[in-house]
Amino acid sequence: MRTPFIAGNWKMNKTISEGEQFIDSLGDLPAEDEVESAICAPFIHLPSLLEKAQHLNLGIGAENAHYEDSGAFTGEVSAAMLGDLGVDYVIIGHSERREHFNETDGTVNKKTHAVLDKNMIPIVCVGESDAEREAGDHASVVESQIEKAFDGIPAESAGKVVVAYEPIWAIGTGKSATSEDANEMCGVIRKKVASLYGNETAAAVRIQYGGSVKPANIGEYMGQEHIDGALVGGASLEPEDFMALLEGAK
Ligand code: G3H
Repeated sequence: MRTPFIAGNWKMNKTISEGEQFIDSLGDLPAEDEVESAICAPFIHLPSLLEKAQHLNLGIGAENAHYEDSGAFTGEVSAAMLGDLGVDYVIIGHSERREHFNETDGTVNKKTHAVLDKNMIPIVCVGESDAEREAGDHASVVESQIEKAFDGIPAESAGKVVVAYEPIWAIGTGKSATSEDANEMCGVIRKKVASLYGNETAAAVRIQYGGSVKPANIGEYMGQEHIDGALVGGASLEPEDFMALLEGAK
């Protein structure tokens, strides 16, 4: 039985005080065994969010991490630093990072290793472009992304990885995938994980859908067999929307 997991991805939004106000405005969060929830935020927010969320059933995540522990990588923040800070989750390989910051399947794999090594949970993003879907390549593109992301990850860690299926054409566009299409692709991902690690691990891995998820459509996605939650951008920025998403995931 997989616990539903809703994660907000604030992307490059909010000042520190706006982030703190967000946490202060949250109502009663669902119990831990009902819905797992997290906010992933820009690095500067992490210390204050961790402090504010200390006694809440709300995990805190980063939006990226460098795979080396330390070194001459100006502007980067390492998984080792985030682990030391007490961060719970790290988003890896978001399509915006793949598009704008040279993130590749190779760096996604190194970062997934680093995040697991530091006892945090990676949220590994995969998904096809519009052109890849038009060409009928969506399943093979995503299978390949999964295979490369999990390369060398030991079986005992693989079940901890959260996968976010985010078709690029659905991100921030208001054009969400139908729940049936999203479920089909999450099923493809689960089957791929099963081929790599066996059915037990595949049954444990949580797979989120991401792309224009909002309170009005979360219920449809959560009703699908292979969808265990959502990675949410725009609709995670307001506390009332975030609370409604958690309610819809129960
Ligand atoms: O990480 C979140 C996704 O990019 C989805 O963003 O909910 O604004 O479409 P969105």
